[in-house]
Amino acid sequence: MKALLDTHHLPTVELEDWLEHFVVAYRGGRLIGCGGLELYAEDSAGLVRSMAVESDLHGTGVGSEILEWVEAHARELGVRHLLLFTVDAAPFYERLGYDLVSLDAFPPSAQRSWQYRVVRERGEEWGVIAMAKDVSASS
Ligand SMILES: CC(C)(COP(=O)(O)OP(=O)(O)OC[C@H]1O[C@@H](n2cnc3c(N)ncnc32)[C@H](O)[C@@H]1OP(=O)(O)O)[C@@H](O)C(=O)NCCC(=O)NCCS
Repeated sequence: MKALLDTHHLPTVELEDWLEHFVVAYRGGRLIGCGGLELYAEDSAGLVRSMAVESDLHGTGVGSEILEWVEAHARELGVRHLLLFTVDAAPFYERLGYDLVSLDAFPPSAQRSWQYRVVRERGEEWGVIAMAKDVSASS
């Protein structure tokens, strides 16, 4: 996963802490995609992170499948608010029901995450976009 994330210049900070909320996709014995969740249960929130697919397979549906798994996993955990940061992939998330939000939409526990703190400080300069989607057990 780290190699795939490095290829796409995505951070691997605290990755090990959240592995139980991650899924990986394999094809022909090769890890071709990953994605997961940081859980902020006190606010029924989850931060979708580390979504990446091998470049030669972009646009073939792997990312959507991974995100569907992450969302289903989030619902099982009682998460109601999914949040994420992205620079380049906003159209991908928009198709799947995510809306642009301001950083103020992040609940207090998610604001304590390392990603939030970094984005608060440098996000505008880097062109980081915050997005959110409400999910429920029935959605
Ligand atoms: C974002 C990413 C995980 C999506 O995975 P994927 O397997 O390419 O996604 P899918 O094939 O399921 O895409 C679904 C649709 O979204 C579109 N899409 C995917 N990524 C997109 C992007 N970055 N910009 C615009 N459209 C995108 C696809 O073209 C596809 O459109 P279609 O249904 O008209 O064919 C993958 O492109 C990736 O690894 N990008 C680089 C890393 C990255 O930006 N990760 C997100 C960090 S928040």
